[in-house]
Amino acid sequence: MGQLRRTHSCNALGTGDVGAEVTLMGWVLRRRDHGGVIFVDLRDRWGITQVVFNPTVDPEVHAKAHQIRSEWVLAVRGRVVARPAEMANTKLATGAIEVLVDTLQLLNSSETPPFPLDEEVEVSDTLRLQYRYLDLRRPEMAAKLVMRHQAVQAVRNYLNENGFLDIETPMLTRSTPEGARDYLVPSRVNAGRFYALPQSPQLFKQLLMIAGMDRYYQIVKCFRDEDLRADRQPEFTQIDMELSFVGEEDIIAINEGMVARLFRETRGLELTPPFPRLTYAEAMDRYGTDRPDIRFGMEIVDLTGIAAGCSFKVFREVADRGGTVRAINASGCADFTRRELDQLTEFVAQFGAKGLAWVKIKEGGEWQSPIAKFFSETEQAAIAAATGAVVGDLLFFAADQKKAVFQVLAELRVELARRLELLSKDEFRFVWVTDFPLLEYDDKEKRYQALHHPFTAPREEDLDLLATDPTAVRSRAYDLVLNGTEIGGGSIRIHRRELQARVLAVLGIDAAEAEAKFGFLLRALELGAPPHGGIAFGLDRLLMLITGSDSIRQVIAFPKTQKATCPLTEAPSSVARRQLTELHIQPDWKE
Ligand code: AMO
Ligand code: AMP
Repeated sequence: MGQLRRTHSCNALGTGDVGAEVTLMGWVLRRRDHGGVIFVDLRDRWGITQVVFNPTVDPEVHAKAHQIRSEWVLAVRGRVVARPAEMANTKLATGAIEVLVDTLQLLNSSETPPFPLDEEVEVSDTLRLQYRYLDLRRPEMAAKLVMRHQAVQAVRNYLNENGFLDIETPMLTRSTPEGARDYLVPSRVNAGRFYALPQSPQLFKQLLMIAGMDRYYQIVKCFRDEDLRADRQPEFTQIDMELSFVGEEDIIAINEGMVARLFRETRGLELTPPFPRLTYAEAMDRYGTDRPDIRFGMEIVDLTGIAAGCSFKVFREVADRGGTVRAINASGCADFTRRELDQLTEFVAQFGAKGLAWVKIKEGGEWQSPIAKFFSETEQAAIAAATGAVVGDLLFFAADQKKAVFQVLAELRVELARRLELLSKDEFRFVWVTDFPLLEYDDKEKRYQALHHPFTAPREEDLDLLATDPTAVRSRAYDLVLNGTEIGGGSIRIHRRELQARVLAVLGIDAAEAEAKFGFLLRALELGAPPHGGIAFGLDRLLMLITGSDSIRQVIAFPKTQKATCPLTEAPSSVARRQLTELHIQPDWKE
């Protein structure tokens, strides 16, 4: 018997193949011994086929099949036979047939896997990551990588068709100011000097525009040493692009086309651009956040005017001190229990809420609430009108300074939607957020910081405010938000040297520091920089949403843990003293 050669994948055979001699190769997903006849579900990347070992076909092969265990690697040859109608498995693409095996080659055995692959069991994330190659054998995990591939191909095809050039940029480079901490790489040949891994290719893509490349893209790794969350990894992938001679509208239109293509070729969904837009100010006002989830309503309502005159001391004082009193209407939730209200009060406390006043609207519009007595009938009616409250509704109030109220109500809004099951993973609601402030004031560091990055262009009509009221300056930045997650962000850039210098000055970066940090970009701006702008999408976040995953880790082949470690390779690891010496580093830690 020579080496068998594979003829089909484990997802290829159907009733049309009955009678054919085929050879399949794959892993043993399950083995069932049915009094003499042995059934094996053979699995590969494409699917599963049931193969059958019957002693009447060949007793020796059947005897060998007795040894087979989960995750062994087999090659089998045999004849495709139709399953009796009542034995067909409609859940499997190959469920109408099975392969009656006459030749078996054991390509490899396997120890018992550290966790079962054929059922959904609670397995610790660390164990799954330690044996990531086993985890990825599971069809639902493999499907995510397949979809990632499809997404990347859709993006590439679309951008290639639209005149973009795929150009690589350095990984060993200088710090890019995206606002996170850098990963540093010491230089052996330049003692005391370090490369930074790029937080994004921001400066290089601008240089490519100055080089006349006109349209650039790259599907590229970015590195940021920041606190990790479900949608943050220390290394992640951007769909990064930059375009010359364009304005916001061109970039938005091209990207709506790209996202539509991506959803069509992954989920088979037809999106309907143009996507809605909100200015930053509107988004904050109505949703309390610059990444609003618009799959549901429950918008925030400003009641400061009404609250200023009421007799509830907390609200009145907040209003008097220039704070704000706002509410959301959880419609139909007047039946929430005391326990639920306490839970929600605790929930908002973690975001700094000083309390969570509530009102249940009972029959006849009557208020049931600890604060009912502080509101006159007129005030109650005004609040009902403003919030659209009707019988059966539940109102929540937050009173504090604006920033605090926005955060509390934004979190509460999403938590309520979660509890009310308003967050379908199969609904995709995009929204562009535009007109971000150019700068924000950092109270801790006592200086202005760029909200996006320092190369973002201010709106022309706000330029005078740079000197007088910097935080009032609006930028030409835009974010694309999907179901409450920021999936992409970009801006029109500053392309004139003197404006760049002015913005850097407001940021407290003086000429010497600017020269030291990005003098090369400033110099390039003096040598014929075209107007340009761009955007970058978080590919991992997009795929998390497209595949209905809870974390970007599930759509990355080899992700890191919350502590930025890799349980599989055990990176980061210690290194030999000799290596450090070569890098001119003297450790001060114990081994
Ligand atoms: P920004 O910093 O907004 O912009 O990043 C773009 C997008 O990248 C994703 N993202 C992340 N995804 C996973 N893990 C992370 N740690 C992480 N950080 C960011 C987000 C985000 O919207 N150079 C600019 C783009 C530009 O101006 O063109 C930039 O990097 O989805
Ligand atoms: P108190 O009079 O302190 O018992 O508060 C009455 C209600 O108002 C309680 O439900 C508190 O949770 C709520 N409350 C207190 N302070 C605030 C605040 N700053 N914002 C919203 N609700 C508050």
